[in-house]
Amino acid sequence: MSTLFTGIGSLALTGERFGEVEMVENAALAVSGGKVIYSGSAAGAPVCDETVDVDGRSVIPGFVDSHSHLMFAGERSEEFSSRITGKPYAAGGIRTTVKATRSASDDELRENAKSLINEFYASGITQFEIKSGYGLDVETEVRSLKIASELTEHTTFLGAHVVPEGVERAEYITLLTGEMLQAVRPYAKWIDVFCDQGAFTAVEAKEILQAGIAAGLKPRMHANQIANIGAIPVALELGCASVDHCTHLSPEDITLLSGSETVVTLLPGAEFSTKSPYPDGRRLASAGITLAIATDCNPGSSYTTSMPFCIAIAVREMGFSPEQALWATTRGGAKALRTNGGSLQVGERADFVVLDAPTHIYLSYRPGVQLVSATYVGGKKVFERN
Ligand code: NIG
Ligand code: FE
Repeated sequence: MSTLFTGIGSLALTGERFGEVEMVENAALAVSGGKVIYSGSAAGAPVCDETVDVDGRSVIPGFVDSHSHLMFAGERSEEFSSRITGKPYAAGGIRTTVKATRSASDDELRENAKSLINEFYASGITQFEIKSGYGLDVETEVRSLKIASELTEHTTFLGAHVVPEGVERAEYITLLTGEMLQAVRPYAKWIDVFCDQGAFTAVEAKEILQAGIAAGLKPRMHANQIANIGAIPVALELGCASVDHCTHLSPEDITLLSGSETVVTLLPGAEFSTKSPYPDGRRLASAGITLAIATDCNPGSSYTTSMPFCIAIAVREMGFSPEQALWATTRGGAKALRTNGGSLQVGERADFVVLDAPTHIYLSYRPGVQLVSATYVGGKKVFERN
């Protein structure tokens, strides 16, 4: 069974290099078996079993959200509200969510994540990573990752989020690099550490990631969100696929990153919600660094599921062009997860978004407006706006 999407006013094709976007006007997209079999000018489109006319709308690759924390219960609107009136963001707020998550049932955790995933689809996200990190005991970390692995192939063990209350620091690191790591291993692909002020030091991060690598997980890192505590050299030494946040980077960090395969994943929702300064995306891009943008969806520092919102901030505040922001949220996210997708080249996954707008530029030009008309994963519609 093949389907031809016709009437595409503009089709955005992402390339392999950061910011590469080719625009095709009067385009068509053909899909079969969940894959793209044609993308380009309508004139060259093949004949398919069925046709869907999108009536002049634009089509972009589905967003790949490489950083989210969907395994949690509860909310922290009071904390958000006190921040807005001046209280700075601190890593300790995580412990509030840990309490709620530990006392939630599997069904509650699953239903909460599923409802956020439906919001992801409505925002055009077609692939996403999910981290644990609000359990911080063996039982709840395992429960979180088991459920996460039902919902995505991109699962990340973040037992090293903070040291939980009532546990001695060294004792917790022994637990998480030993018994906890072994217990979550069947359900996690990645290991992550929050390497920051109030969380884990660079020395601790190295020990924790090395244990994860020895257990067969691949490393990534929350690096320098609150302060630069030397996360980047460690992340690069261990070959992290991605360093995320990077709100604070030194010129030496930038030099190191520019010669590496490590993706820098920026999380505009976190700076927005914590009232922090935005990192300079343009400066990083001109250093030749590959950038991704992700939602960081979590109840503390970035409770958004909207990738268009993140794009609007990146364009307005972080020096991204609309094309760079589109690339960073699609192909960039896929590179940060070392996976395919975020591209509509022939042979790729048929994950795409139909926008009620003439081009992707409208994602930042019309901030806060629901422009996603429909979202397709593997050629199947998972969201349609009424
Ligand atoms: O990525 N920075 C560490 N972890 C999350 C926030 C966690 C929280 O405040 O609940 C983040 O922003
Ligand atoms: Fe995060």
